[in-house]
Amino acid sequence: MASLSGKHISYWIDSTPTANFPALSNNLSVDVAIVGAGITAITAATLLKRAGKTVAIIESQQISTGVSGHTTAKLTSLHQLIYADLIKNHGEEKARLYAQSNQAAIEFVAKTVAEEQIDCDFSRQSAYTFTETEDNLQDIEKEVEAALKIGLPATFVRETSLPFPIVGAVKFDHQAQFHCRKYLLHLIKQISGDGSYVFENTRVEQVKENDFCQVITNQGIIQAQDVIVATNIPITDEGLFFAKTYPKRSYIIDARIAKDKAPQGMYIGSGEKYYSIRTTPVNGGLLLLVGGGGHKVGTVENTEEKYLDLENYARSRFGVESIDYRWSTQDFVSFDRLPYIGKLTPLSKHTFVATGFSLWGMTKGTLAGMILADSILGIKNPAADLYDATRATPFLRPQSIKQNLQVGTHWLGSRLKGLNKSLEDVAIGEGKIVTVHGDKVAAYRDETGEIHAVSAVCSHLGCVVAWNSGEKSWDCPCHGSRFNCNGEVLHGPTVKDLKQF
Ligand SMILES: Cc1cc2nc3c(=O)[nH]c(=O)nc-3n(C[C@H](O)[C@H](O)[C@H](O)COP(=O)(O)OP(=O)(O)OC[C@H]3O[C@@H](n4cnc5c(N)ncnc54)[C@H](O)[C@@H]3O)c2cc1C
Ligand code: FES
Repeated sequence: MASLSGKHISYWIDSTPTANFPALSNNLSVDVAIVGAGITAITAATLLKRAGKTVAIIESQQISTGVSGHTTAKLTSLHQLIYADLIKNHGEEKARLYAQSNQAAIEFVAKTVAEEQIDCDFSRQSAYTFTETEDNLQDIEKEVEAALKIGLPATFVRETSLPFPIVGAVKFDHQAQFHCRKYLLHLIKQISGDGSYVFENTRVEQVKENDFCQVITNQGIIQAQDVIVATNIPITDEGLFFAKTYPKRSYIIDARIAKDKAPQGMYIGSGEKYYSIRTTPVNGGLLLLVGGGGHKVGTVENTEEKYLDLENYARSRFGVESIDYRWSTQDFVSFDRLPYIGKLTPLSKHTFVATGFSLWGMTKGTLAGMILADSILGIKNPAADLYDATRATPFLRPQSIKQNLQVGTHWLGSRLKGLNKSLEDVAIGEGKIVTVHGDKVAAYRDETGEIHAVSAVCSHLGCVVAWNSGEKSWDCPCHGSRFNCNGEVLHGPTVKDLKQF
């Protein structure tokens, strides 16, 4: 395998300071406890604090270092190709509400940036979904027609400023892009104080709802009237959101390019294999972000190939001077293409969740924060019913049946993994499932030859994890939990580390 180019960290995280909030040290009580500190949590906290509520944000790692710190940060209601499908499956009225709520999220960010003069590289841009082949042209044309029908700012174009020809594209005007972490770090500064708190390095292990809510963490307990679980995928098993979505991982590289080679606008391809493209200003120059290579978490071991593919694509299409960064992240895809935002279960009165943003959570996380803040404040939000998290779930759609069957297959198939393999079979730099005294062990041998061995059985619901070579992590193919090579949780739904050996 050729060596990979670029620093292995998200540009958004590398270009911003750490926030350094304390961990929880005493039990306390607030109006609203908010679990997680990504775009959903911080938007909700901002609105609730503005409305006079006391809030506590509880983040297991650091502020905005989850998916919101690894995104492409396009703010658009053009979610590749979606409106023709939404109209077909949900009807014109619901598709219009989806469009309007996503447009409202863009305008919420724009207004917040303007009012608070947030230095976050926010700029208005057009968004494009393009095709380079005649095969997908009809889908593009249908999308333009559907988008126009529900009042979106869509046009069909045959030319863009991309440095290669396209066959056609749907273009939305007056969309936006930003540096999401700069935006969130600005907002979070206003949360602490006057009875409100922000905690980092504090993992929530359980949320209980009785007469009042209790958020049980590894550092203490927070009591609250309401709780928002904004952990990307809920860490609570109630509601079965891990079964109503599937985790999709995707890759990004940042390449330095000359300003005169840079395309104007934000782009995403269509069809089986596609790339996402935008630029961002950096120290007087420009970085080109190219994303792609999406797959279900835990189903690709050699993920380094994904980075190489992005690099080849960027070098062959754009005048790349250097590859500066590479990173990857994941989001949860909802089977009916609508996110889940609202009460955790039909019986919940005070516990709320948001998930299933399907890789478009810059707007959907923002609108989730808006809807959940409204629910807690007793304000009727026009989009709340559309995204109702307790709605009848399309378990029976072909895609969800396939994904759930795959989960079953992984569970059964993984029982056979690692048979007849021992620690000696693990080469330097390699991760393998091996058997030690009859137990399945996830073993990684680092560059110094030392073995890091943890249980291979996922601490969520017991599937066997799979190696991810690009990130040197153990990823669960069932519901997307991820762990570092020492077994520490990187991504939920699990809240427990892998067992040590
Ligand atoms: C490659 C890629 C590119 C993307 N690009 C775009 C884009 O251009 N435009 C767009 O609209 N969307 C995009 N998205 C989607 C978007 O980035 C996400 O939907 C959004 O950031 C999710 O925000 P969130 O608040 O749900 O989750 P997060 O930002 O992950 O926040 C959840 C937080 O909860 C914390 N947490 C988890 N478990 C616990 C626990 N037990 N206790 C306490 N805290 C916990 C995590 O550490 C994390 O910080 C992209 C997604 C991917 C995968
Ligand atoms: S994430 Fe559910 S079993 Fe691993």
